[in-house]
Amino acid sequence: MKYGAVNLSQGFPDFEPPAEILNRLAQIAPVGPHQYSLTWGAQNFREALAEKQSKYMGIPIDPEKEIVVTCGSTEAMMAAMMTVVNPGDKVVVFSPFYENYTADTVLSGAEPIYVHLRPPDFAFDADQLEEAFRQDPKALILCNPSNPSGKVFTREELTLIADFAKKYDTYVITDEVYEHIVYAPYAHTYIASLPGMFERTISCSSLSKTYSITGWRIGYIIAPERITKIARNVHDFLTVGAAAPLQEAAVTGLKFGEDYYAGLLAEYTRKRDLFLKGLADIGIPYTEPQGAYYILLDMSEFGPTDDVRFCEELAEKVGVGAVPGSSFFKEKINHIIRLHFAKKDETLIEALNRMQHIRTKLLGGCG
Ligand SMILES: Cc1ncc(COP(=O)(O)O)c(C=O)c1O
Repeated sequence: MKYGAVNLSQGFPDFEPPAEILNRLAQIAPVGPHQYSLTWGAQNFREALAEKQSKYMGIPIDPEKEIVVTCGSTEAMMAAMMTVVNPGDKVVVFSPFYENYTADTVLSGAEPIYVHLRPPDFAFDADQLEEAFRQDPKALILCNPSNPSGKVFTREELTLIADFAKKYDTYVITDEVYEHIVYAPYAHTYIASLPGMFERTISCSSLSKTYSITGWRIGYIIAPERITKIARNVHDFLTVGAAAPLQEAAVTGLKFGEDYYAGLLAEYTRKRDLFLKGLADIGIPYTEPQGAYYILLDMSEFGPTDDVRFCEELAEKVGVGAVPGSSFFKEKINHIIRLHFAKKDETLIEALNRMQHIRTKLLGGCG
């Protein structure tokens, strides 16, 4: 903001949510609900969510017993961790990771065990993963599709993780906020839907990314009743509940037909192609996301020794806001930055125009 940079750092859209949801919000304003809803989520919201998620996850979900509505996936994950993880426990986290996972683990008094995802496809080494499971972790955190790598775990990889989780009696806590943003030919598999996994999976997700309402703070946990019973208590004491009028308005979104999700994906596919083509023309190496809306760029040619300083310079001299890659990696790195493309075309084009001059601005040469 200080340098007037185009902000491609924190992942949120600069375009409007669907008009139907906004119209519903306007209808609700004079009539409510404006008081607390049930702490674990308004009845009609849970019913609409159970219907939608049962369909996409391919498993029956009981709105009375198997859902906790939270303030975003952020709270869902923290509540999930506090439900099953005790101080002194271990938690498996893939690296690169969304930065909350280390914080969630540490706030739970637990210790992370990192398992490396190898670029460019961010595959994991099965032996390294089993080695982590041998250390008796209470849970594994699975971000699928993944921020920041854009990885979409294959069914085979998820089956392997599921087999280890069953063999070593470990919970899987998912973060699936990008479940509807998976680019062809990749496909999203919910690990909770694999045989024997519903019992040990705490599926966390939210409406933030699917309906472009990151500021509404509506998320949820889906899990078996013995887990939600405790998670509902944790959630009650953390936040009491998600905003009642926003849950009511968001029901409209949960009832959208398949065309909405197809349209969302088509739009993000188009934005991804536009942005990747622009980056390719500029000639900066990048990861091609299989899902979500983030790109990791390799800035080695600029010789950064400190990626935080590099991102400051990028904002100041080039006019583009990025996140330093070291926020996401356990491994020591200083040459990677993350950009995202959940923005209007004009915002993306402006960022690309500015980046065309990146070599002149940062290296002082021709470019
Ligand atoms: C992987 C991942 N999980 C969770 C969140 C935050 O989700 P929510 O708005 O539902 O708290 C984000 C936001 O960028 C994210 O990338």
